[in-house]
Amino acid sequence: MEIVPYRFNDLLAIEPLRADEITFLLDQSKPFQEIQRHPLKKLATLRGKTVGLAFFEPSTRTRISFSTAASRLGADTMQLQAESSSLQKGESLLDTVRTLDAMKPDCIVMRHRSSGAADFVARHLEIPVLNAGDGTHEHPTQALLDALTIRDRLGRLDGWNVSIIGDILHSRVARSNIHLLSRFGCHITLCGPPMWVPRELEHITECGAPVRRVSRVEEALDGADIVLMLRVQQERMHEPKLPLDEYVMLYQLTQDRLRLARPGALVLHPGPMIRGLEIDPVVADGPQSCVLEQVTNGLAVRMALLFLLIGHGGEESPAKDAS
Ligand code: CP
Repeated sequence: MEIVPYRFNDLLAIEPLRADEITFLLDQSKPFQEIQRHPLKKLATLRGKTVGLAFFEPSTRTRISFSTAASRLGADTMQLQAESSSLQKGESLLDTVRTLDAMKPDCIVMRHRSSGAADFVARHLEIPVLNAGDGTHEHPTQALLDALTIRDRLGRLDGWNVSIIGDILHSRVARSNIHLLSRFGCHITLCGPPMWVPRELEHITECGAPVRRVSRVEEALDGADIVLMLRVQQERMHEPKLPLDEYVMLYQLTQDRLRLARPGALVLHPGPMIRGLEIDPVVADGPQSCVLEQVTNGLAVRMALLFLLIGHGGEESPAKDAS
């Protein structure tokens, strides 16, 4: 097997990763998928290590997944409860994470509403920082678990027609997936109400792979191998507002619409899903849906990343240049 050295101390984004590095991370996740199927799931690999979890925005999947990944590797966790922390008294982000850092975790996993927040923190700390979602920028572990799910179901990542449908403007999941899947020559189609599908995303890929924008969902689904549905993020600003019943009529993924895609096309959704809004429950629970597999694969991906970044995958990592 070819050895691809993992050259990062942090995981902040998919954008700087090469295809061989992504493949390496997915391959490293395979043994951790096996562990999820084992009756005894606990290892001692990271015994004595501590994972700091700093979630400044709500999360179910990512927070519990990182926490469980740490626990299954034998690590302890240190959890910031943002809503009951001294942030409410005006403490800054940097002072908050420096306070956590002073309690000597071995890495910090963070989610924040501001794009670039994880990168900012990583530049001030010597320990690894893993981005669990920053504003509308990136959600790298989500794209990795999506890729693992696609590779498992379809046998490879290369060359698929991928349609990403919904509120793309506010979606860090869309950005991370566009970066990742375009590295493997996938043909990306973005679809949603025009004000939610920014024109600049046509040129987002470093490799110059074309990204197509369409406004009719039927056009996006025609010939798709993979359909990635996105949540309508009502908590973020939407101007001009689109009536939700109109959204359902024009963009909801129904069984009839899914028939326009290739037979057996995969349906992915990062969650949380709003059933009856962006996706019909029949599709969400149908045989083409990968939603729960995505969640299970998230554990494997996050265990692999913690193992590589703080267990050093059996090797020492280079020192970080923190200022
Ligand atoms: N997919 C995802 O990030 O879900 P959570 O917001 O529940 O973590």
